[in-house]
Amino acid sequence: MNTIEKDRAYLVQCYTTDPVVFTHGKGVCLYDENGKEYLDFSGQFSSDSLGHGNEEMIQAITDQMRKITNVTSCFPTEERASLAEKMVAITPDGLDYVMFGCTGSDANEFALKAAKYYQGGGKIISFRRGFHGSTAGSAAATGKSETIQESASISELLPGGFVHSAAPYCYRCDFGRTQGECGMECLHYLEQTILQEGGEKVAAIITEPVFAAGGVIVPPKGFLKGVRELCDKYHILLIFDEVVTGLGQTGTMFACEYEGVTPDILVTGKALTSGYIPGSAVVMRREIGEAMSKISLHGHTHSCYPLAMRAALKNIEIIERDNLVENSRIVGDYLHQKLLELKNEFPEIGDVRGRGLLQGFELTDQENGKDKWTLGQILYKTMLENGLVTELESRKNLGNVVVVLHPALIVTEQDIDRAAAVIRDSLKACQ
Ligand SMILES: Cc1ncc(COP(=O)(O)O)c(C=O)c1O
Repeated sequence: MNTIEKDRAYLVQCYTTDPVVFTHGKGVCLYDENGKEYLDFSGQFSSDSLGHGNEEMIQAITDQMRKITNVTSCFPTEERASLAEKMVAITPDGLDYVMFGCTGSDANEFALKAAKYYQGGGKIISFRRGFHGSTAGSAAATGKSETIQESASISELLPGGFVHSAAPYCYRCDFGRTQGECGMECLHYLEQTILQEGGEKVAAIITEPVFAAGGVIVPPKGFLKGVRELCDKYHILLIFDEVVTGLGQTGTMFACEYEGVTPDILVTGKALTSGYIPGSAVVMRREIGEAMSKISLHGHTHSCYPLAMRAALKNIEIIERDNLVENSRIVGDYLHQKLLELKNEFPEIGDVRGRGLLQGFELTDQENGKDKWTLGQILYKTMLENGLVTELESRKNLGNVVVVLHPALIVTEQDIDRAAAVIRDSLKACQ
């Protein structure tokens, strides 16, 4: 059996796997078994800041392995103390206490627990196109319908007390309004939802500052500020899930800086360690952290895994030293412009959205006889065959097909030109 056959024979195929076996990577490129080169514009589910095969990361993790690899969260290490200090330094003022985890899902799980505990219970409001993870609480907060919610039997695992409000999705406004003339109806609806759930009885609102997996939905200016104001008005905690947007991905260290809105709890994961060792972090207001310090109701064996702590420290050091947040802003703008040019050329592209290096284009409903669902699948496969790895977000119950492009922060304008050429050729081939 070859690798793909063996994989299919023995592994639960929860993900729709692609027929490509990557064997190594360098920078923004991946290579398959036959030595074929691919530009990785998927960021591997947005977890890749520094690109593949970064020698400094490999060295730091190797050194850490020799120093100490495995101690449980019961023992402080120099690495976790230093990373906690660093997380407080790089997140907005007012966020002073840190908890570490292994994945974005368990970090969100902690954030939800902390909010509920601090508030003495209460509902959690999230948004319909948001994604927060695949553990019970984080999946319940996920508004973007996932298999776990769609399956009657599995959804019994989801806790109650989660309510989903309308996402600020201007391209397909839930209220049929046009951007700029809508009076931010989604915010009014959110306030109605809060009131419906008892106002101050709501514990927290959780949202991504840019809805990544829901189709790179960038809220209109003023939306996040409006959410903050509603939280203050009704004494609700605000949780920003920056698991995708954190660490420079959208052109600022954290996406919440764009509008100057500070949450009470900020969650980060994925690119925290640039994907070299899985790790996540929750940074919160001191009072919330101190309340959670009094109880022992959260933690995994490897919550403060020294290798992850070291990987995150080195990752942040490189991001700061090499001005990669600025690169994300500048090259991200360039990518956005290139996608707008493609939109002018191809009627199949209906909208181009994004901030920094988190960008996406949405396919129009019907063009040249091919429905957008089929086109999305064919386009994704054609781009892959042509050497460009992307992420496809396509769900009929959400009504959108979005090609997500999220290259590593080290990407250059030349890489963007190469990727744009592949998208152009692939779109032509699909026509
Ligand atoms: C915004 C957001 N939050 C949380 C998660 C869950 O992270 P993980 O897959 O590491 O559990 C994801 C995963 O895609 C995500 O996009």
